[in-house]
Amino acid sequence: LILDELVLRNFGTFAGEQRLDLSLSEPNRPLILIGGLNGAGKTTLLEAVQLALYGQLAPTSTHRGLSYESYLRRSLHSSVHDSARSGGVELALRITADGREQRLRVIRQWRLDGLRLRHELRVERDGEIDPNLSADWPEYVEGIFPRGIAGLFFFDGEQIEALADLEGSRQVLDTAVSGLLGLDLVDRLITDLTVLERRRKSSSAGEEDRAHLMHLEKLLASRQEDLEETLRTLKDARRHYQIAVERLEQAEERHRQEGGDAFAAREKIVDEVAAARVRLGAAAAGLAELSAGLAPLLMVPSLLGRVAQQAATEQEAATNRSLVNVLRNRDQKLLRAVGRAGAPAEVLGRVTAFLEDDLQKRVADAAIPARLGLSDKSAHLAAALASTDLAEQAEAVRRGLRAYSQARRALDEAERRAATVPTVDALAATLAEVRQARDFRDEAARRLEDLEQMYRRGHDEYTATTRRLQTKVAEIKLALDDDERFLTHLDRVRATLGRLRDAATRRHAARIEALVLEALTILLRKRRLITSVKIDPDTLAVSLLDAHGRELAPSKLSAGERQLLAVALLWGLGTAAGRPLPVMIDTPLGRLDRYHRDRLVGKYLPAASHQVIVLATDGELDDATVASLAPCLSRVLHLAFDPDRGATEARPGWLTPVRELEDLR
Ligand SMILES: Nc1ncnc2c1ncn2[C@@H]1O[C@H](COP(=O)(O)OP(=O)(O)OP(=O)(O)O)[C@@H](O)[C@H]1O
Ligand SMILES: [Mg+2]
Repeated sequence: LILDELVLRNFGTFAGEQRLDLSLSEPNRPLILIGGLNGAGKTTLLEAVQLALYGQLAPTSTHRGLSYESYLRRSLHSSVHDSARSGGVELALRITADGREQRLRVIRQWRLDGLRLRHELRVERDGEIDPNLSADWPEYVEGIFPRGIAGLFFFDGEQIEALADLEGSRQVLDTAVSGLLGLDLVDRLITDLTVLERRRKSSSAGEEDRAHLMHLEKLLASRQEDLEETLRTLKDARRHYQIAVERLEQAEERHRQEGGDAFAAREKIVDEVAAARVRLGAAAAGLAELSAGLAPLLMVPSLLGRVAQQAATEQEAATNRSLVNVLRNRDQKLLRAVGRAGAPAEVLGRVTAFLEDDLQKRVADAAIPARLGLSDKSAHLAAALASTDLAEQAEAVRRGLRAYSQARRALDEAERRAATVPTVDALAATLAEVRQARDFRDEAARRLEDLEQMYRRGHDEYTATTRRLQTKVAEIKLALDDDERFLTHLDRVRATLGRLRDAATRRHAARIEALVLEALTILLRKRRLITSVKIDPDTLAVSLLDAHGRELAPSKLSAGERQLLAVALLWGLGTAAGRPLPVMIDTPLGRLDRYHRDRLVGKYLPAASHQVIVLATDGELDDATVASLAPCLSRVLHLAFDPDRGATEARPGWLTPVRELEDLR
């Protein structure tokens, strides 16, 4: 991995946009030298690189105890608040992935938006924004430059000081070794497992389940009690209902005996009487109608014949009376005519006798007295009536009389029955009893119905709860088994991880010991001072052995020697990481004497990695030292602080002109 360029925008002491070319001019010139006086912004550069790579998780932003947003807000160059109100860092780097060189550019920007600060991350791959890579950057960067070992490659004088105190180094070493071997992952896994275990045990579903189980059992018991209570009440209600039914039956029987039935049928009887009356009236009316017609004639059938006869006789007499004179006249004229005609006497005699005879008869008839003296009309009527057949009339009258007598009988019968109906008063007592008994029975029936419903409901609920309980019990049993299995496996996994950690540490400790010793041998003047470096795999405590194999107390080392030891540790660990990562060192030489400074500069810096960015003051690296490094240098820059602008600018060249660097410029 090679860092090609660092761009700062209003970051720390850097105002506006500052571009620092960090690329290597030649592969065998690993050194980039950046000079700067105190406060010029060297540490700011170290922070910027780490911030670009790790963002919120960068060690710089956390160890100042600020929130990420506050850190970013504070990092904005002081002039920004009146102008751009935005800042950022940008890091261009090159990696070889899948056998192909890729150029990545990590761009972090933040902007003040009112009181809020908005920040964003974009990652370019080969000049194009890669949205997936941008989203997955935190995971991706762990793969190319794990944060756990970043401390072995990016460090400053302060860290060296801390490492130099061997006791205090344990923490740093622990982090470094863990990161180096990927043990931080194992540790995190172990912690996670413990958390998981605790969560499973305490907030444990088992507890909840047990509580739920108990709740269900209680519910079931109370449902059962309710149900039994309901059943008892239900039985009582059934008995009550039975009693009520019997009482009603008895009351009804008594009422019947008292004539209650007849009374109940009273309406009907009254109706019957009325109907019989109507029928009787109708029969009587029928008879009256017949009486107004021809019926009375049935009483005088022969008299009617005689009247007709008499009337006929009287009529004939009347006719003859009016005919006799006419006929006498005509007969005389006839006889005279016959006589004139010369009819024989015999004939004349006979005709005269006939006519005389006929006339005499008529005279005799005409003599009959008119006792009835009926008019022609009446005589006709009498004749018509006499000839009428009265049989039909007789039949109708018979029928009418039969109907009348039937109606009469029915009325008598109905009236007799009506007379047997007891009075309301006589029945009031038993009726009231029946009514009361009926109300009582109805009430009992209603209550029984309600209770039966209640019982059915209760029974259903009870069954449902039982079923739920059974399911839950089965579930809980399963869950508890599951818990147990889970916890047993968890223990095993944790033990295995622990063993893995130990084995890994032990195996690598030996390698790291050798690498650190090698680095120490290169750096230290007193070669035999330390002959062996031991790292306790359990505690990661570093111990040093002298030429006699005795443990060398760190206090016996000088401050400078301890710093070199620290650098050796970092170097050894960095080499042990076995990854081609750039090294960036900030102000590493503070305490070292000339000899050790030269060793560090001469032996360590060019060999520390394929790209080594050194941030130093002019005090640390004098012109001669810088000049001596010329063959290894790719680039030399210096940070110039402009007091007027209150801002730093990166410029080519060393802080002071160095002749040997002429061609580098
Ligand atoms: N937001 C900011 N705006 C302007 N200047 C800032 C801002 N934040 C920090 N600074 C200044 O930047 C400087 C800190 O820079 P830095 O620590 O990188 O310097 P250095 O070169 O590492 O110094 P030293 O050699 O002392 O370690 C300080 O002078 C500080 O006041
Ligand atoms: Mg500094």
